[in-house]
Parts: sequence; C-alpha cells; structure tokens
Amino acid sequence: MSSKPGEQMPSSKDAKPLPAHVAIIMDGNGRWARKRLLSRVRGHERGTETVRTIVKASREIGIRYLTLYAFSTENWQRPKAEVTALMALLKNFLKSEKQEMIDQNIRLNTIGDTRKLPDGVRKILDQTLTATAGNTGLTLTLALSYGGRTELVNMVQEIAGAVSRGETDVNAISESLIAAALDTRGIPDPDIMIRTSGEMRISNFLLWQLAYTELFFTDTLWPDFSRGEFEQILQAYQNRDRRYGKVSER
Ligand code: IPE
Ligand code: IPE
Ligand code: MG
Repeated sequence: MSSKPGEQMPSSKDAKPLPAHVAIIMDGNGRWARKRLLSRVRGHERGTETVRTIVKASREIGIRYLTLYAFSTENWQRPKAEVTALMALLKNFLKSEKQEMIDQNIRLNTIGDTRKLPDGVRKILDQTLTATAGNTGLTLTLALSYGGRTELVNMVQEIAGAVSRGETDVNAISESLIAAALDTRGIPDPDIMIRTSGEMRISNFLLWQLAYTELFFTDTLWPDFSRGEFEQILQAYQNRDRRYGKVSER
C-alpha cells in the first residue's frame, strides 16, 4: 500500500487532495523503552529519530504544514530528570537539524510558551527560527510548552484587552478574529490529527483548531511509527468523506 521513499503519493483522478496540514501527538516513547527495559529517555531518543523520518517524508510528499506536539504545559510536571533530558534532546535536535532545515527550505515555527524553555534551548531555537524565517517549503511547527487551554486564555486576554482599550468592538469578535489571536495564526487548521500509542484523547492539543480535523489513532508507539504507516494514513484520509455538517457530494 505504501509507496517507496521519494515516490509521490499515488493520486488518481478521483483521489482527494493531500492534507495541507498534518498534526501529530507523538506518544508512546516511555512505553517503547519500558518494553525493552530501557530508560524512558532512551525512548525519547528513539522518538527523535522518528521525528526526522516524518519531517523528511512530509517534505518529500509535499505536505505544507506539519505540527508536532513535542512538550505540553502538563509535561513540566514530569520528574525533573526526564524534563531535563527532554530539553537536552530538543537542543541537540535543533543543533543537528538547523542546517538541514535551511538547506531543505523548511520554515521552523513554534506554538506554546517558549519563554519557559531553558536559555540554551531558546538560543538555538531563536537562531533556527530566524535562519529559516524566509523559507517557503514545509512549515514545521513544534508545540513546545503548549497547551490548548492556555492558548485560549491568552486569546481571550488579547481580545478583551483590545475591547477594553476601545480598539475592538464586542460585535466585531468573530471566528477569524479569534483564530488570529491564537498561536497558530496564519496556519490553516489541521486536516489530519494522528495520535500514536493507542491513547484515544486529545491531551490539550489544538482545542480550537481540531473542530473539523480528521482523527487517526494508531496503537504503534512513536519510536516504531514509520513512513509506511504515515503514508497509509494519508491514503486513508484521501478516502474519507469530509462533510462539514453538510450532505455528501459523493
Ligand atoms: C511522548 O511519549 C513524549 C512526550 C510526551 C514528551 P511519552 O513520554 O508520553 O510516552 P508514554 O506515553 O509514557 O509511553
Ligand atoms: C501528550 O502526551 C503530549 C505530547 C505528546 C507532547 P502525554 O503522554 O503527555 O499525554 P497523556 O498524559 O497521556 O494525556
Ligand atoms: Mg504519553
């Protein structure tokens, strides 16, 4: 079912378009490690390899936007050693991928409160954001210290502030005004949301943006998630009927 690496996804005349935006909850690193009697951090290390694989696949297939849930607001409550290791991994990932992103025309973007990240991570993050800001290929958004509810609180504060200063009229508050006050401003809502590891929940990810997203859940643990399975999900998406509450056109 899956095409060979580098090959375009098959597209017949009837096939629906590829998703413009794929969002992924990368879950299951800890369980992957536990099954092997390894430390959770080893699972996160292997998960980073899957990130590389899926970013490359997305770029080659022609996905425009890829959003990866890398660290939630709630993940700060994990043991300090695990948080420290995750931050170190993130820093190393950015260091090793910065040139690749520049060369591959990838634009890095973030959502979430990145001010909470350690200085060393913020430094390489800011450098990579600046270095790739003009790129026009894949937009890779990392959700870092991200939580959908915090994002909504920030949005309400921003709009309420504008209203209280008399800059915005209450009646002018619209869906598009709200969308423009979210971290994801300028990025279309996800067409697909994939969660690995068998958990059937959203875990505070993109609460506003997922309203009409097609959801895919797989039992595969993130370190085992492959390009082949990713392409199978993209094909399954192309066969889904997105009705948006209307009557099917098929
Ligand atoms: C996902 O894997 C990575 C992060 C949340 C940072 P987990 O660490 O949640 O793995 P499990 O769910 O414990 O297996
Ligand atoms: C969601 O995974 C967050 C990320 C993948 C970064 P979690 O493992 O933190 O979510 P829960 O705790 O299972 O809901
Ligand atoms: Mg988890």
